[in-house]
Amino acid sequence: IRKFVTSTSTMSVAMKNITVIGGGLMGSGIAQVAAQTGHNVVLVDISEDLLNKSQNNIHKSLERVAKKKYPTSPEDSQKFISETLSQLTLNTKVEDAVKTSDLVIEAIVENLDTKQKLFYNLDMCAPEKTIFASNTSSLPISEIAFSTQRKDRFGGLHFFNPVPVMKLLEVIRIPETSDETYNKLIAFGKQMGKQTVTCKDTPGFIVNRLLLPYMSEAIRMMERGDASCRDIDIAMKLGTGYPMGPFELADYVGLDTTKFIFDGWYERYPEMTQFKTPDLLSKLVSEGKFGQKTGEGFYVYE
Ligand code: CAA
Ligand code: NAD
Repeated sequence: IRKFVTSTSTMSVAMKNITVIGGGLMGSGIAQVAAQTGHNVVLVDISEDLLNKSQNNIHKSLERVAKKKYPTSPEDSQKFISETLSQLTLNTKVEDAVKTSDLVIEAIVENLDTKQKLFYNLDMCAPEKTIFASNTSSLPISEIAFSTQRKDRFGGLHFFNPVPVMKLLEVIRIPETSDETYNKLIAFGKQMGKQTVTCKDTPGFIVNRLLLPYMSEAIRMMERGDASCRDIDIAMKLGTGYPMGPFELADYVGLDTTKFIFDGWYERYPEMTQFKTPDLLSKLVSEGKFGQKTGEGFYVYE
């Protein structure tokens, strides 16, 4: 457990104490941006090793942000990085991490059962006032919230990878979400510097409902031998102006996470053929090739 550092920021925020659970790709980005924008942040993961890895990633990302923010002043860059890091605490125990929390954002593995268990425990140990949010890519927020007694203080906050760069935040309310909770989630998104959009609790919300079928079509195109993954990526970048092609993006999101999304949807909606997990994706995941994070996916990374 690291020392909790009280904020010196004078910024007025509705929700000041933020707990982020899961320090992987998304959780570390969410924790970083929350710390950058004047919140006191506790980041939780299951081991000290994983938390140290998250902190290193946050440090590297902050260096990139600082370089852009203060291109001519190394002193200001350094000050920005150390001030941001002083807003961040690491903890492996959720019970301790939520003691003074205004908002808990969950960013753990994309599995309903695991998320429900986590929220069931959190509901026991978090203060009454604490709002819960999930960063799930594909699971119904209502079903995640089912394990708690605070559905009026529950919602979805869906961030995009890389969180320090991507400007969008999807805010999801379930029928029980109170107006007060919803308004606080929107205000928090603005405080984080994000453009918020709202969507009902439907599969994939706005972005992933369109993105996943597109990725799946691209993989099937490659499986049929119509074109190579490299040529499909080039085509979508140069033909539509996307910053990454579908294969580069799947590797960037993580093939494990992408497969969790397809598997979950296809089981739930078997009539929707566009949700069927592509065979090649399953094969790569079974070989431990999860994309950029493991050094290999559709492409090999140095
Ligand atoms: N932290 C901080 N800054 C970062 C960063 C990070 N992790 N990654 C990139 N940047 C910054 C760089 O410092 C750079 O800044 P400057 O322009 O000032 O130099 C800028 O972003 C561009 O980065 P690069 O030059 O390294 O590379 P790039 O131009 O290829 O951009 C990218 C990288 C921003 C990731 C871009 O390729 C991109 O936008 N890709 C698409 C990402 C996307 O679609 N994300 C959504 C995925 S779907 C999702 O997240 C939802 C889900 O549930 C699965
Ligand atoms: P990841 O595998 O990079 O990180 C998940 C982290 O959660 C790991 O560090 C793991 O150790 C930790 N964890 C697992 N169970 C835990 C528990 N019970 N308590 C504390 N920590 C635990 O995954 P990710 O890509 O960051 O995705 C996390 C969530 O965000 C998923 O729900 C995913 O669908 C969603 N999401 C992912 C992306 C993306 O592009 N990867 C984008 C938006 C949303």
